[in-house]
Amino acid sequence: MNKKRIFSGVQPTGNLHIGNYLGALSQWVPLQDEYESIFCIVDYHAITSLNKKNSLKNSVIEMAKNYLAAGINPKKSIIFTQSAIKEHVELTWILNCVSARMSDLENMTQYKDKADGKNKENISVGLFDYPVLMAADILLYDTDVVPVGHDQLQHIELARDLAKRFNYQYGETFKIPTALIRKQGARIMGLDDPTKKMSKSAASANNWIALNDSPEIGAKKIMKAATDSEAIVKLDVDKKPGISNLLTIYSLLTAKTVKDVEKQYAGRGYGDFKKDLAQITADFLSDFQKKANAFSETDIKEIMRSGAEKIKPLAEEKIKRVKLKIGL
Ligand code: AMP
Ligand code: TRP
Repeated sequence: MNKKRIFSGVQPTGNLHIGNYLGALSQWVPLQDEYESIFCIVDYHAITSLNKKNSLKNSVIEMAKNYLAAGINPKKSIIFTQSAIKEHVELTWILNCVSARMSDLENMTQYKDKADGKNKENISVGLFDYPVLMAADILLYDTDVVPVGHDQLQHIELARDLAKRFNYQYGETFKIPTALIRKQGARIMGLDDPTKKMSKSAASANNWIALNDSPEIGAKKIMKAATDSEAIVKLDVDKKPGISNLLTIYSLLTAKTVKDVEKQYAGRGYGDFKKDLAQITADFLSDFQKKANAFSETDIKEIMRSGAEKIKPLAEEKIKRVKLKIGL
């Protein structure tokens, strides 16, 4: 039997934090054996915000290193850059005109969050249209399953709706994808404010641990993380969001269950728990960075070139069919 296909993407925006790693990258690794896997670095998505000043080319290389360090294996999976395959943009335009409606996009919470409080003069049309480009990414390759963090669920729903609408109007063309959300760890919260998700746009660098933070800094940030005064290491997201978040991170980094970690620290307070987690985090960062730095820029470029070469025929084939259907 043929393997089902997964597709996922991450923007090449600066460095990732452990929330991105635990919520997205790390969950892709075991999927590579079960699925035919395609991982995309979505640089066209990255230009939807007007304030990206750093070189995207470098960010793409850095991101690819992160994928590889996380355990994405180019022998098993296809890794490529979105802008290398022009069909993503072609399909976006077609979906824009044929399937997507203003009201769909006006309802997208990520857009509303990003646009919130901004003057419309400062919001690109691309940011508004971002979800359609994402739908095109997914639909172009007859994707079965899309592994993402919880915040992307609404975008996957839109991709499904657009595919269904197109199929209804023009006959069976696109496969209807489903989202795969990892439950635990799907949302890593800010270390300084565990009621909101960990995010690089938070005010303080103590909110996140970047994958390229030094092991010492990473450990310090854990030691500083917000907790509560109860001193019981127990998962209770509503009443103890800080400790619950640290427990989740601990469990994911060590592959121990939360229950086992709770047992391990029963009656021991937060001091020991945090000290151990700080060490675990430092070891993780040091190991991750060693792996990332083992790849040269030339290695990465070759991996991406070969990924794009493999995927190009699929995209061409699909666009040809789509154009035929709509009479182009
Ligand atoms: P972003 O750069 O925010 O678009 O996120 C890239 C990927 O990381 C997406 O799949 C997100 O769902 C995931 N992600 C972002 N922030 C977090 C977080 N705090 N916890 C878990 N996953 C996250
Ligand atoms: N929008 C996604 C994010 O912010 C990234 C993305 C772009 C994506 N295209 C995709 C994820 C296709 C999955 C499938 O995380």
